[in-house]
Amino acid sequence: MITIISGTNRPNSNTLKLARYYQKQLSKWGVESTLLSLETLPPNLLVSDLYGARSDEFKEILNIINATEKFLFIIPEYNGSYPGALKVFIDACEFPASFYHKKAALVGHSSGKYGNIRGVDHFTGVCHYMQMHVMPLKIHIPYIRQEFDENGNLFKEDTVKFTQMQIEAFASF
Ligand SMILES: Cc1cc2nc3c(=O)[nH]c(=O)nc-3n(C[C@H](O)[C@H](O)[C@H](O)COP(=O)(O)O)c2cc1C
Repeated sequence: MITIISGTNRPNSNTLKLARYYQKQLSKWGVESTLLSLETLPPNLLVSDLYGARSDEFKEILNIINATEKFLFIIPEYNGSYPGALKVFIDACEFPASFYHKKAALVGHSSGKYGNIRGVDHFTGVCHYMQMHVMPLKIHIPYIRQEFDENGNLFKEDTVKFTQMQIEAFASF
């Protein structure tokens, strides 16, 4: 099972738009996936699902995560790194069932000019701590607000080319 994690809980995020785009493109390669937006996390997650606590709502999400073999994380740049909501989500999951020895591909993006290079590096460290196999081809998309057409598709030649390379690599990873 493949799961795309839209790595922020911010409403109307570019992250979710990009995650939907990746899901559509993956299905063109015959790869079906589940999309999990962090917007759907229990609003009280900090209290309801950390350090041994477990809500019924989060249990359903955990079932998806634990059944997943390959993850695609779409990660926006927040204050020079990846979002805190993503780390809280990872901390709320289970060790080793959730991520240990599983595969991950990473996509970073930002409204500024660095495309979350630093945040993806930080998150790579977290993945390696969990002994995940991180796909070497990582993509960084700066100025994300200028990247979508009116249908929510990427349209710039270079961005389409490099995201397609990653999608193809991920399909056979
Ligand atoms: C809390 C927060 C911190 C942010 N920090 C940065 C930043 O450090 N660098 C940057 O280029 N953009 C930053 N942004 C802008 C995001 O990169 C921008 O919102 C982009 O569209 C991706 O995030 P989204 O999925 O929330 O839309 C920040 C946005 C938020 C909400």
